[in-house]
Amino acid sequence: MNPALQRLQAYPFERLRSLLAGAQPPAELPGIALSIGEPRHAPPPFVLATLRASLAQLDSYPATRGLPALRAAMAASLSRQLLPPGTALDPERMVLPLNGTREGLFAIVQAVIDPAAGAVVAMPNPFYQIYEGAALLAGAEPWFLNTTAATDFLPDLEAVPEAIWRRCRLLFLCSPGNPTGAIMPLRYLRRALELAERFDFVIAADECYAELYLDEAQPPPSLLRAALEAGNSEFRRCLVFHSLSKRSSLPGLRSGLVAGDAALIDRFLLYRTYHGCAMPLPTQLASLAAWSDEAHVADNRRLYRQKFDQVLPILAPVLQLQRPQGGFYLWPDIGGDDALFTRALFERTHLTILPGSYLARDAHGENPGRGHVRISLVPALEQCVEAALRLRDFIARPPRSATGASRN
Ligand SMILES: Cc1ncc(COP(=O)(O)O)c(C=O)c1O
Repeated sequence: MNPALQRLQAYPFERLRSLLAGAQPPAELPGIALSIGEPRHAPPPFVLATLRASLAQLDSYPATRGLPALRAAMAASLSRQLLPPGTALDPERMVLPLNGTREGLFAIVQAVIDPAAGAVVAMPNPFYQIYEGAALLAGAEPWFLNTTAATDFLPDLEAVPEAIWRRCRLLFLCSPGNPTGAIMPLRYLRRALELAERFDFVIAADECYAELYLDEAQPPPSLLRAALEAGNSEFRRCLVFHSLSKRSSLPGLRSGLVAGDAALIDRFLLYRTYHGCAMPLPTQLASLAAWSDEAHVADNRRLYRQKFDQVLPILAPVLQLQRPQGGFYLWPDIGGDDALFTRALFERTHLTILPGSYLARDAHGENPGRGHVRISLVPALEQCVEAALRLRDFIARPPRSATGASRN
């Protein structure tokens, strides 16, 4: 077997299962899961109708590049959302469909990294777990950029030693961030691009939460826009990853896209042809419908905003937390051991959340997720409010083992 498999860590949800094993939550309280980042809003009916109407097309092999009409819809959607008026992505050279961003984020590392060259893949910490697994299985060394309140929840590019940048072949960025919800400003993205030019690496910008932002007037800037503003109209070294899972509440459709540098897309297409990950035709047609509509995405934003509006005032008196700029997570500092807190919360209130330390690695003397928990506001509004009330009462009367020294 590939020895790199030994280096893969247990996935956070496996660790959560072990943490909660044997715990007995109160039977009279219905369980509420706030642990997984799986959108629960109703998927757009017109997308499901398109999927049903095109099932007969399962009789044909799809092409890895996807239908021209799908790529056109994806390029048009990105251009409308992310680029200044008058600029557009070329759907023939700059866009490819993915079976969800997860698959693409993994595969791009395998396509970019030369395992013989002592390559580094840099990533935020805490981070979406695929970044690290992809780096390890590609034979690269992960390098963690700690992302804490002290750095405004942005990975600190200036803290990376020059010797590491010299070995870096790919940098993962995530904006809006999971789990922090922080949005990378344009000047931050411009700086990342300068470093990419200087040290010759690819930036893989995970923008799967790009259309879930809390201030309607301030959509998150894309890496593609930063490239254009820097005069890089061919998006050299830039790839952005977008998904229908979050914007359209279609996590089971497994549909996303990658867009950017045409030379990288060309090589990635070659890789994907062998990888054999073409998107089934009914999924392509349903995706085309979803990328062509923005009204349902605005509805989703409104629903998440309502949840933050109602949950934050309940929690603010008892928790140190900020309204995130994007995404659907809360990332509070609970002032104690995040795993103990998570288990005690489950035992007392039947709420499931995720310990922050499970999403991060020990790096540069700390685990930057420690002391935080991730609370995913994906259940219905009433359940989110009920969960916030239970959490508030739990913090007001914690069992002695569940909090840090400051509360004991
Ligand atoms: C940061 C981040 N990237 C990528 C994904 C994968 O999304 P999908 O594969 O459904 O597009 C997720 C899912 O939770 C995520 O949180």
